Amino acid sequence: MAESIQKDQKPVSFDKYISSSSRCSFIAIVIFLIFLSHFLYSFSFIPFIQSPSKISNSLLVPVVQVGSGNTPEEKTELKHVVFGIAASSKLWKHRREYVKTWWKPDGGMKGAVWLEKTTVNDTVSSTLPEIRISSDTSRFKYRYRRGHRSAIRITRIVSETVRMLNGTESERNVRWIVMGDDDTVFFTENLVRVLRKYDHKQFYYIGAPSESHLQNLNQFSYGMAYGGGGFAISYPLAKALEKMQDRCIERYSGLYGSDDRIHACMAELGVPLTREVGFHQFDVYGSLLGLLSVHPQAPIVSIHHLDVVKPIFPRMDRVKAVKRLMISAKLDSASLVQQSICYDTTHKWTVSISWGYTVQIIRTYMPARMMEVPTRTFIEWHKRRDFTNVAFNTRPITYTGCQRPRVFYMSRALGDSSSGTTITEYLRHKEDNPKCEWGIPDPSDINRIFVYKKSNPNRWNKAPRRDCCRLLPTTKTGTMMIKVTACENDEIVAYSNK
Ligand SMILES: *[C@@H]1O[C@H](CO)[C@@H](O)[C@H](O)[C@H]1NC(C)=O
Ligand SMILES: *[C@@H]1O[C@H](CO)[C@@H](O)[C@H](O)[C@H]1NC(C)=O
Repeated sequence: MAESIQKDQKPVSFDKYISSSSRCSFIAIVIFLIFLSHFLYSFSFIPFIQSPSKISNSLLVPVVQVGSGNTPEEKTELKHVVFGIAASSKLWKHRREYVKTWWKPDGGMKGAVWLEKTTVNDTVSSTLPEIRISSDTSRFKYRYRRGHRSAIRITRIVSETVRMLNGTESERNVRWIVMGDDDTVFFTENLVRVLRKYDHKQFYYIGAPSESHLQNLNQFSYGMAYGGGGFAISYPLAKALEKMQDRCIERYSGLYGSDDRIHACMAELGVPLTREVGFHQFDVYGSLLGLLSVHPQAPIVSIHHLDVVKPIFPRMDRVKAVKRLMISAKLDSASLVQQSICYDTTHKWTVSISWGYTVQIIRTYMPARMMEVPTRTFIEWHKRRDFTNVAFNTRPITYTGCQRPRVFYMSRALGDSSSGTTITEYLRHKEDNPKCEWGIPDPSDINRIFVYKKSNPNRWNKAPRRDCCRLLPTTKTGTMMIKVTACENDEIVAYSNK
């Protein structure tokens, strides 16, 4: 018997609540689940299309931080972060659509987009950061042969941001400078969760290296924060960098990019990279499905290379796909793309959920240690299909035709911000699958999956642990109902007790 499933099943049928109309059934299930968890009051729908800025800030529950004196210091919030977005005039018109998906001006966000020149019509927009024109860099040497000297302009955004803030009213509030590209999206609540772990009054350089082993090994470094994945520099460190950066980059005119120039100057300052795995450079091609379905147990902070990889949700415009993921992020950002694994013992299936993104069903019981390894839905940066060139374990999508996963992508989400109740709906991605003679039911018999979960904004204040999922009873054909929740202390993901 599987221990991780059907633990708190209730002998109730959902069927009478489900009409043939999907909208009615969705709402019926919502209502039922509210009863189930005794959230009988103050229920309000968060509709499918709502601007991310409307997300309740109550999802971020205070953590008491003590400052250097006796007065407790205010915890780090978005208003303490100043963003520097590296952009180019040529691509800004297109790339700004990505920035719009995460930029929340009414959430007190500060920062600027840095362009090399003004473009016609880049008028001030209330939905975007202000535009700044980088200062002239023609005096700096750039000697990398096939590179582009815009790297110098971009690396100096940190210093230019310090100078922009110098002496202003808002400077007092600045704790972190966060750099990203115009094709990077940030999950800002998670960014704040990560930054809160560190003392902003000290020197910190926070980010992550590339997925590509060769990129880290040859061209760049495992000790470098890749610029596209984004990185955070504490304000005192940014000020120290500003003092030396222009002289520093003259010493590294042979380097390729902007982020390796930052890394070189950090090395001179003696400040190492603090690695946070939620920053994603994503130096890959193809589909992010394999990677985002088994995200590390840490909050997802960023996704980069949105124009390089396939749309996050298939058969959809890239920007729209990001917006869809932001709907889940809005309901439970801390749990976004966090995995849970359970077994359907009735059908002999393995179920893997990446909350707010996908559910996958596979014939037979696959052990947890295999299910938490990314599948090769992507190819690495050098397009060699050589998985010894990624800096982590991977596995084939399937070992046999019978075990090819059925992938269900998140289609709709509802939540109640006062109780934290969320229901996400996932629809099966239609694909041709090989015939299977194993006598195990076809997971393609399921078309629609509902995942019920309470948002858990404080999960990262505890030791990391995967959530557990449990199948809820339903006899509705083609539908599966799953509850995702924190595991019990001794709960395990195993398909046999023997
Ligand atoms: C600038 O905006 C105006 C008015 O919206 C439009 O008519 C014009 O074509 C735009 N110019 C460019 C270069 O996009
Ligand atoms: C900040 O402003 C002061 C006063 O104008 C000036 O002396 C100082 O050099 C400036 N510092 C930076 C980093 O720009």
